[in-house]
Amino acid sequence: MDSYITYHDEIPDVETYFELRSSVDWSVFCGEQSEKALNNSYYCVVAKDGDSTVAMGRVVGDGMYCDIVDVMVKPQYQGKKIGSTIINKLVERIDEGTPEGGKASIQLIAASGKEGFYVKQGFTILPNEDSGPALRKLIYK
Ligand SMILES: CC(C)(COP(=O)(O)OP(=O)(O)OC[C@H]1O[C@@H](n2cnc3c(N)ncnc32)[C@H](O)[C@@H]1OP(=O)(O)O)[C@@H](O)C(=O)NCCC(=O)NCCS
Repeated sequence: MDSYITYHDEIPDVETYFELRSSVDWSVFCGEQSEKALNNSYYCVVAKDGDSTVAMGRVVGDGMYCDIVDVMVKPQYQGKKIGSTIINKLVERIDEGTPEGGKASIQLIAASGKEGFYVKQGFTILPNEDSGPALRKLIYK
């Protein structure tokens, strides 16, 4: 892990969020929708190089069902264990928030070709013997 990178429980502003999304060639959502969504995050972790936000990941959910979304590391910072550190921190937060006798399902849709990254962090590819495939419906307006 690069020691000059610091990690913070912090929600980035929309501008920074758009900058991160653009850096990994993801489209940006509308500003109003993004601001509301970011502020509704259950947990959010950013990685910084000095004052500059270079990566993030966030969780949306209710404590029982938690979706990991918006995991992105700026290209020049990839391959330095920043993405995996962010995943570990998000999982840690969910773990800490799960009561004794409770259960949390942490789920996500991997970008194409990125499933191996999550497998390395202990996630299981679906379908498996217990669960069917993940399904999705998108709305565009
Ligand atoms: C995918 C992404 C988050 C990984 O972050 P990263 O900081 O570059 O990854 P790390 O350095 O933490 O990698 C941790 C491990 O996962 C492995 N890994 C990284 N990307 C991988 C991939 N696509 N497939 C398989 N393994 C991968 C690394 O080799 C490393 O393995 P090791 O522990 O054996 O050394 C980052 O490359 C990224 O932001 N990509 C563009 C946006 C994206 O696709 N995000 C994922 C959305 S679902």
